[in-house]
Amino acid sequence: MTLLPRRKVLITGAAGGMGRACARLFGATDDLVLTDVVAPALETFAEELRADGYNVVARAGDMSDDQLLSSLVGDVSDGKPFALVHTAGLSPSLADWRAIMQVNLVATEKLLRALEPSLVPGSVAVLIASSAGHMMPPLAEVDAVLADPLQPGFLEMVEQIIKGMGGAESPGGMGGISYTLSKRAIHTLVQSRAQEWGPKGCRITSISPGMILTPMGKSEIANTQGATQLLDATPVGRGGTAMDIALAARFLASDEASFISGTDLLVDGGGTAGMKMRMAAAQQAG
Ligand SMILES: NC(=O)c1ccc[n+]([C@@H]2O[C@H](COP(=O)([O-])OP(=O)(O)OC[C@H]3O[C@@H](n4cnc5c(N)ncnc54)[C@H](O)[C@@H]3O)[C@@H](O)[C@H]2O)c1
Repeated sequence: MTLLPRRKVLITGAAGGMGRACARLFGATDDLVLTDVVAPALETFAEELRADGYNVVARAGDMSDDQLLSSLVGDVSDGKPFALVHTAGLSPSLADWRAIMQVNLVATEKLLRALEPSLVPGSVAVLIASSAGHMMPPLAEVDAVLADPLQPGFLEMVEQIIKGMGGAESPGGMGGISYTLSKRAIHTLVQSRAQEWGPKGCRITSISPGMILTPMGKSEIANTQGATQLLDATPVGRGGTAMDIALAARFLASDEASFISGTDLLVDGGGTAGMKMRMAAAQQAG
């Protein structure tokens, strides 16, 4: 009997809502490399999975830490195709604008750069973006800054952009704008990275969740107006589950999605379309 080859799957934010669901789902057929900044929660979860027969390496640390990144690269680099499911992130109710941009975008760029030398044909990445990134019209000058998050003075440039968009006085505050920009940047990053990854036989995509009932999602619902508005505007009539996202990630990381790259998949119960239609109707009503 031949055994199916087991792929290595690196899941970031693995102690969080979506990270846990992805670990449970992918870990049924793949070997897991899990990472999160909250060490005790990560270790407890990894032990739970091991007790259930999963094959798990757990490495706690901050996504911005170069040493952590090189250890993670070592964990997945065995000359075979690997998958990345990148869920680590911060939202406006959890952190300030700077930390949001640092984790959601700057650390994502660093992670991809660290992994890229180890890409082999068949490697695939699924980055978790957000429906928030779809709520902003494309602005060429802003996109140009966001396209190079490791450039000197990047956060200072972003601060000016956020202030120019209304800053602290805007409905979502500095953090809300930073979150939207960071997730919009993931959409464009995926488009450009796919051009480089394609010739290597690799794919990269993103998922934009709508309102998902994870610890982060619940914190947004409790603390921000935008989250409740999005939930209200979601035509399927419920908040999403972390497993809704994990199922989409499993599809995008599978051979069934071999013609899907450089694009974003909204997994939002129709909420983004609902929000846009409500905003257009409100504008028309004056
Ligand atoms: N929940 C939602 O409604 C929703 C909606 C749209 C997008 N998203 C995005 O989905 C992703 C996953 O969110 P979630 O709902 O599972 O949130 P969550 O808060 O449950 O999980 C996120 C995990 O990321 C980890 N993390 C944060 N900063 C880190 C850092 N510097 N280094 C390493 N790990 C770090 C946290 O410890 C946490 O375990 C995020 O990128 C989020 O922006 C969530």
